[in-house]
Formats: sequence, C-alpha cells, structure tokens
Amino acid sequence: MSRFCPAYPKPHPEKASKLSMFWHARRSWMDALFERSYTMQMGEVHLPGVDLYMLNDIKEVKRVMQTEAQAFPKSHLLHESLEPLLGESIFTTNGEQWQRQRTMMNPAFAQARVNVAFPRMLGAAQAMLERLDAVDEARPYDIEVEMTHVTADIIFRTIFSTPMQGPDAHRIFDAFARYQALAPKLMLPALFGARWLRMPWYRWQSNKAAKEIRGLLHAMIRPRYKSHLKGEATEQEDILAAFMQAKDPKTDQPFTEGELVNQVAMLFLAGHETSASALTWASYLLAMSPDVQQKAYEQVMEVIGDRTPEQSDMKDCSRVWNIFRETLRLFPPVGFFARENVQACPVRGKQLKERSTVVVAPWLLQRHRKWWKDPDAFDPDRFEREEDKDAIKHAYMPFSMGPRVCLGAAFALQEAVLILTCLLRRYEILPAEGHVPQPVGRLTIRSENGVRIRLRKRAAA
Ligand code: HEM
Repeated sequence: MSRFCPAYPKPHPEKASKLSMFWHARRSWMDALFERSYTMQMGEVHLPGVDLYMLNDIKEVKRVMQTEAQAFPKSHLLHESLEPLLGESIFTTNGEQWQRQRTMMNPAFAQARVNVAFPRMLGAAQAMLERLDAVDEARPYDIEVEMTHVTADIIFRTIFSTPMQGPDAHRIFDAFARYQALAPKLMLPALFGARWLRMPWYRWQSNKAAKEIRGLLHAMIRPRYKSHLKGEATEQEDILAAFMQAKDPKTDQPFTEGELVNQVAMLFLAGHETSASALTWASYLLAMSPDVQQKAYEQVMEVIGDRTPEQSDMKDCSRVWNIFRETLRLFPPVGFFARENVQACPVRGKQLKERSTVVVAPWLLQRHRKWWKDPDAFDPDRFEREEDKDAIKHAYMPFSMGPRVCLGAAFALQEAVLILTCLLRRYEILPAEGHVPQPVGRLTIRSENGVRIRLRKRAAA
C-alpha cells in the first residue's frame, strides 16, 4: 500500500557555502540541510567563534547523550537564549545545579501524578470539543490554534488545579505566543556565532514578553507560596504543591519563591509547546491518511464506545499510540539537541576543540536513510513490524535519551492519546484542499503556513 509522505524542506543537492547556509537557516535550520545530511555519520560547519558538529553515528550519539553525558553538557547557547524566561531552570542548567533540580522535581512526575492528571486532561479535552463543535465544518480550520490552547490548558490545570481561563490566563497565553515567535530569531544567530545579528528590537520584545509571563505566573504562585510558608494545609494535589514540598536531598532546603517561578515557567513552556506541535502534525497526518484514521476510529469505538474515557482505556488504543509515535518520528517537536564538550576530545576520529557545539538531531536520525525503510512515509504500523525494530531501538529518540531524557514523557503520551481518541470519536478529520503545510524548525517543529484541516462531526457523536 502506498503511504502518505508529508512535504518537508527539500534538501540541497550539495553542501552550501557558509553564507548561504546561514541565509537559509534564518528561516529554519532545516533549510540549511543537504542530501548527505540524511545519510552521513557526522557533518561539520566552522563559523567565526563556533565549531559545530552534527552527529548521526549512533555509537557516538549514545556516548554524548548517555554514557559520557557529563562530558557533554547542554550548550550554553541554549541557556543564554532561554534565560530571560526560564531563569535557572531544569531545562537549561547543568552539573550539580541540574542534578539537584531533577531530584527535587522527579516526584511530581511519578506514575501516581500522571494518574492524578488524567481527570484534568479529560476536563480540558472536553472543553476542546466544545470549542471545536462551534467551528464551521465547511471551512478549513488551523488546528494548531486549538492544539496550543488545549495543551496549555492541560498543563495549567496540572500545575495550578484551575482551568486556563480569565484575562490573566489569556495574557500569559498571548505573551508565550510572542516569546515563541521571537526565540528562533535570537537563538539561531547565537548558534551560528553571529550574536551581532540579534536585533536589539527583537531582544527587547522578547525580554518584555518574558517579564510579563513571569510576572503573571508569580502572581499566581505567591498566595499559594505564602500559605505554604505559614504551614496551612493545601487541598490541591497539583504540580505546584509537589514543587513546594520538594526538598534538596543534601541541604533539606525547599525551592525559593524565585526558583518556583523559574520551574513553573519552564514547565508551562516545555509542557505545552512540544505536545501542541506533535498533536497538530498528528491531526494533519490523520487527515491525509483516511485508511489509518478509519482503523484507529474502529479500535477507539471498540475500546471506549460512547462512554466517558477512562485512564485504563488508553493502553488499549494501540493504533492511536502508534499514530502518535510515528508522528513523533516524522515531526519530532524538539528537532535537535545542542551539547558542548567540556574538554577537547576525539569524536569519530576528529579532534574536537574544547566547547565545540555537538548537535544530535532526531529530525535527521529518525529519517536517516541507513536506518529506516521508507523514511519519509507516514506508516504507524512500523511500530508493530520486525523490520523496523532496530531503527526504533537505536535511532528513535523524540524524548531524548540518557540523564536529560524528558521528564514529562509519560504525561505527554497519556495526554496525546486522550486528545486523539476524543478527536477521532467526535469527528472525521479531513484534508483542506490544496493546503500543504511547510515544516520549519522554530522552538519546536511547526508549519510556516499553519496546518489547516476540516472536521466533520460523525453521525453518532
Ligand atoms: C510530545 C511532547 C514532548 C516531547 C516530544 C518532549 C521532548 C523533550 C526532549 C527531547 C527533552 C530533552 C531535550 C534535550 O535533551 O536537549 C525534554 C526535556 C524536558 N521535558 Fe519534555 N517533551 C514533551 C512534553 C513534555 C511535557 C508534557 C512535560 C511536562 C509536563 C515535559 C517536561 C520536560 C522537562 C522538565 C524536561 C527537562 C528535563 C531535564 O533536562 O532534566 N515535556 N522534553
């Protein structure tokens, strides 16, 4: 059976000059790739002030991400770009500081917490259906808007035990959208060693958005923090409560108020931007693959039917899991991981200077011609087949790997399967004629021209 192959930036036949590479990467880093990027084991680019190595060699990838992860911490460029919003948060810190934060935050994501989150996810998914029911069926609709809304609502409910509504929630939401649009404009010049290209105007706007978000989050955190300090009991069993109860394993000290703001801002960003990206692409891939959609719909109806979904149903919707896993292969929200080597060291026989930028890109690994059969095709069944087993084991890492693996992976998978089952039960997801989304690498992998689909309410819904 022929499978749908979504459009992606056509690689250049040959490696471009540095200037042309930078020029293309201004729009999206994926535009700078060339054909060999998808077959090579390692590539390199040397720019003023930055030596950048792109690793596809699985042995070296595991070394950088897993076995010698301490020698390859997260790139300072990432920290520099996200610091105005996230401060010193777990996503960008390194070493002991990161270890302390990770140990303190782990309990908030333990399995039990994912169970607690399920009813909140369901509440947000039901609110999503109400909004979508109001959309004109005949008109193409940009599903990214709704996927951003519902995932932001879910993380908001999970952190604060309250739905994302009211003027303040919407101000946070708007300021995040502005921040996200500006982030790549600031991050890419730094990655290419051209900080001077970061327009002061962009920096000013980005800092302003970050300040606004932090101010609003702080206002939500402060009363809860004050009452926690007074020893007042809280009824809320949410992430904020878990963070306030967490203690440094060495000093027994809790997070300070400022640290709480950093971690909550980080979680709001990491917890919805990625899931929104993946769910948007999943909706599009379903619209373009009616046979895959029909089979998944039949299974969802068999497992859940018309009753309210329960957490235990999720594991039985295997087709939906495979659809989401395959979406994460083709469109990994975090398209690349940037690390740097603490000391000069050899990688694949090359001597890397200290503090070179070492990039591992799921975007490339998960479409690598040597690993995957039909690498650009949407084929959820590959997760059931023997022939792709090795590729899945070694070259599939949408949630990263090693000590910095995504803390919210179980949360994200549960949320995604629930949202997709709710969508499938209620609507037929149809393509918007003539619309071809153009993937671009921003904070996550998004479409430059939106992702338009049509939703037709099913007769039984
Ligand atoms: C489909 C959705 C998601 C994807 C694909 C994803 C992917 C990732 C990846 C690739 C990383 C590591 C980046 C690196 O190594 O440089 C990461 C880190 C992280 N993610 Fe996720 N994520 C998703 C959803 C979530 C959610 C829903 C949450 C929270 C509820 C979350 C919380 C985090 C945190 C806290 C980290 C930092 C972990 C650390 O550095 O110790 N993520 N995520």
